[in-house]
Amino acid sequence: VDVAAPAASLTGKHILVTAGPTHEPIDPVRVIANRSSGKQGFAIAAAAAALGARVTLVAGPVALATPPGVARIDVETADQMLAAVTGALPADAAILVAAVADWKVEASPTKLKKSAGPPDLRFAPNPDILATLGHHPDRPRLLVGFAAETDDLLANAAAKRTAKNADWIVANDVSGDVMGGASNHLHLLTADGTEDLGAGSKEALARTLLARIAQDLS
Ligand code: CTP
Ligand code: CA
Repeated sequence: VDVAAPAASLTGKHILVTAGPTHEPIDPVRVIANRSSGKQGFAIAAAAAALGARVTLVAGPVALATPPGVARIDVETADQMLAAVTGALPADAAILVAAVADWKVEASPTKLKKSAGPPDLRFAPNPDILATLGHHPDRPRLLVGFAAETDDLLANAAAKRTAKNADWIVANDVSGDVMGGASNHLHLLTADGTEDLGAGSKEALARTLLARIAQDLS
């Protein structure tokens, strides 16, 4: 064992990260949204910058400070997130942590009035950003998605890996109080199988994942 071998660095690499929820407007004052604090995605962007990468962080609406050394693009909707992500290509790796709303609403240009009764919302599907990158001509060399599940975690995560043409899926059991919390328990699914990355703070798990990514890209 070469004990002097340094940890792999990400110097010269461009890492693209999505984080947070998206907000899909119903009218000028109301939205539908996913539950996401953005903490895990921001921790991943910070860990990538700490390893020397150039980092682009496309963030939905969150109440978090931009990590040092990270270029942040704020977006609201899934359509805006997709445009920002494809506009940031090429990237050596993309890590899509955002909890993208699966549907958007046919929004009213004027404020709906409560007195008119509950609205009959019409939904349309949002673009799948991970699947779009998976089949993009400028596909990042390493494409990493997340799968947040309450049931059948590893089976659902494996199905998403192949369906979206991702290299890795990080599987995240959200049946407890993970959403908005400080800690997490992650599994890494690759073409070679599944590995338990363990439980820990979102920052510690981000460092573990980014060390793996740096190793893979080197
Ligand atoms: N994702 C995305 N664009 C979407 C939906 C999801 O890029 N419109 C990405 C997420 O950022 C994540 C991965 O796809 O990296 C899995 O998201 P998830 O919501 O778990 O999967 P879905 O395919 O949307 O399936 P479902 O919500 O029904 O479980
Ligand atoms: Ca979804």
